[in-house]
Amino acid sequence: MPEYARNQSAGFKNAIERVAIVGAGGTIGSHLVAALLKTGKHTVTALSRQDSSNKLPGGVLVARVNYDDEASIVAALQGQQFFIITMAPTAPRGTHSKLVQAAAKAGVPYVMPNEYAGDIEHIKLGQDIMLGPVAKANRDEIERLGMQWITVCCGFWYDYSLAGGEARLGFDFDKRSLTIYDDGNTKNSLSTLSQVGRAVAKVLSLKHLPDDENDNSLTVSGWLNKAVYVKSFVVSQNEIFESVKRVTGTSDVDWTIAHEDTKKRYDDGLALVKSGNMAGFSKMLYARGFYPDDPGNCSAKAQNELLGLPEEILDEATQVGIDLVKELQSRPDRMAS
Ligand SMILES: NC(=O)c1ccc[n+]([C@@H]2O[C@H](COP(=O)([O-])OP(=O)(O)OC[C@H]3O[C@@H](n4cnc5c(N)ncnc54)[C@H](OP(=O)(O)O)[C@@H]3O)[C@@H](O)[C@H]2O)c1
Repeated sequence: MPEYARNQSAGFKNAIERVAIVGAGGTIGSHLVAALLKTGKHTVTALSRQDSSNKLPGGVLVARVNYDDEASIVAALQGQQFFIITMAPTAPRGTHSKLVQAAAKAGVPYVMPNEYAGDIEHIKLGQDIMLGPVAKANRDEIERLGMQWITVCCGFWYDYSLAGGEARLGFDFDKRSLTIYDDGNTKNSLSTLSQVGRAVAKVLSLKHLPDDENDNSLTVSGWLNKAVYVKSFVVSQNEIFESVKRVTGTSDVDWTIAHEDTKKRYDDGLALVKSGNMAGFSKMLYARGFYPDDPGNCSAKAQNELLGLPEEILDEATQVGIDLVKELQSRPDRMAS
């Protein structure tokens, strides 16, 4: 049965005001927080580990939690209307489950699971990159616990992936080298970190519920147990390279170019992962995303217009990516997987 604001008890406010987030100081979490705070419509509470050295953005309330003490997580989540999880992929398995179990005990109705990847409806691709079944299990657990989810399908993060080394979009800015996958013309949909932040803030700033059965406006409830699809650019590696050359004032002669077949690269990366070497993971992931006959391009489903998201300029995003290189190099453990 659809729920309407009209039928709620007295005092019901038709908005999502109290948002909790794990990873407020992290790669994507910091952008979600910035966009949420910018709306002026949300109180954001950052759940952060007691021993965390992450710098948390100003303007958030901070709740220190201990993942081995469920009561600390439940207490932090009490009274929250929406719980966003952006957690390091290197966090121990089971941490996501600890968080959603605590959310259910605290009575939080909605969770954004730790995904921020490609199209959840592209099952084969999800299986090939090994992330799909894990993410599906996370969403299923949320539903089993009586809550609902909204996930984000954004494809690869453009700026992060450009900066993240050869294993990702093929660029090594220190060596001025580029590995081009196949002929470099396969297009993919990618999103900047800030566009993902804006998309999430837009959805969470909608009315919570329609007023009544005649209200057709967009609402948070319209996205429950569904994905928000977002994109910034639909580009090939060759087009990204053109942008990089414009932004850096370089030309072909300044770059060392190698070519690699995506299917071979996927197999090599997967073999490394299977041997326990996680250095193969990104190689496998990005190679699969650029398969010429089945790329991870989910732009056809992008809801940018629906959400009123701005058009972005490729070269500006390329500059943001280049500016991110040093920061990501300071996270060697993360970049190695
Ligand atoms: N689409 C893409 O291109 C792309 C790229 C990378 C990642 N992703 C996805 O986005 C998700 C978030 O990635 P991110 O880069 O934003 O994460 P991140 O910045 O590496 O980490 C986010 C937060 O996780 C917490 N954390 C770190 N280590 C932990 C541990 N051992 N146990 C528990 N919590 C820990 C930290 O919060 P506190 O220190 O405050 O506790 C940290 O700020 C990933 O899991 C992945 O699914 C997508």
